[in-house]
Amino acid sequence: MALEYKLLYESKECNARLGEIHTPHGVIETPIFMPVGTKATVKTMTPDELKDLEAQIILSNTYHLYLRPGHSLVKEAGGLHKFMNWDRPILTDSGGFQVFSLGKMRKITEEGVVFKSHIDGSEHFISPEKAVEIQNCLGSDIMMAFDECTPYPATYEYAKQSMERTTRWAKRCKEAHKNTDKQALFGIVQGSMYKDLRLESLRQLVELDLPGYALGGLSVGEPAEIMKEVLDYMVHEMPRNKPRYLMGVGSPDYIFEAVERGIDMADCVMPTRMARNGAFMTSKGRITIKNAVHRNDFSPIDDECECYCCKNYSRAYLRHLFKENEILGARLATIHNLFFLINLMKNIRISIREERFLEFKNDFYQKYGYKK
Ligand code: GUN
Ligand code: ZN
Repeated sequence: MALEYKLLYESKECNARLGEIHTPHGVIETPIFMPVGTKATVKTMTPDELKDLEAQIILSNTYHLYLRPGHSLVKEAGGLHKFMNWDRPILTDSGGFQVFSLGKMRKITEEGVVFKSHIDGSEHFISPEKAVEIQNCLGSDIMMAFDECTPYPATYEYAKQSMERTTRWAKRCKEAHKNTDKQALFGIVQGSMYKDLRLESLRQLVELDLPGYALGGLSVGEPAEIMKEVLDYMVHEMPRNKPRYLMGVGSPDYIFEAVERGIDMADCVMPTRMARNGAFMTSKGRITIKNAVHRNDFSPIDDECECYCCKNYSRAYLRHLFKENEILGARLATIHNLFFLINLMKNIRISIREERFLEFKNDFYQKYGYKK
């Protein structure tokens, strides 16, 4: 078995829980936030810097690495860990999400998806078997089944067909995946916003007895209320002794809402993408550093933050870097935003252990300026 989940503690005040995921590249404490390194790099960060930020696992993408540099090359390098010099756990998404975001540039059949590369328009085909083969070459600790991320909104009929195909594809992924002692294959629940389809999707995937389950097709433009509702009824049905992963979710409020409902893993490009645009998450809300108010403000981004950026640089200096398009600006902002979310998750874990998660959430929302 490539993966073992240990449930350590269940909150008495809500469905939040603490656990550990044991992988061939080390242990992950859950709930965990996973920084995204789409193209085998968390943009602007060296692996040593990620370790200083206490990142425990990163996410990378099958679709991008398949197109460039190609999974054979990564395999030749000795796998993704060696290739990018990251020796902690890696999760790879299957391409199910990226391929489907290509819109008109793709065609779905039972066999798989034909699509045109977003880089040069060349034609490619990814099937469940191919997605497994690529991820086997990458050598990630956790690989995702090839699914269709059903767009929102979707008709019941479409969502049903799409969900059932995702189950058949998950079955084919499981059959194609041989080195189960090194890589764990997670299933992805779909079903759009229809409760019976979601529950049926989960039931079918649970029959495959996979080592973990993800909720896909969320945070795709639906109102937050709907996502919370889906989480409310799904999490109780998800196996208690396996990790639960909410895909593509990573704003602080969504993290709180997900953890409160029993989610163990989340990932999002938001902190790193925002950083490159000069947007900082702070304990008192969001800061757009290019705004004129920061021109001669020599205080740090967040006076409560212990990150390298906040300990050493002022808002005025960071604004200057962003105004001049200096690369250091993007690096420092990435350090701060990743630290902010990773540290938030650490404090969430502590608050669960001390039975004050809801109080912590309440205080955070008030200070950050979120409505409850
Ligand atoms: N990332 C965010 N949502 C999804 C999803 O539904 N499927 C996959 N494969 N990746 C995602
Ligand atoms: Zn900071």
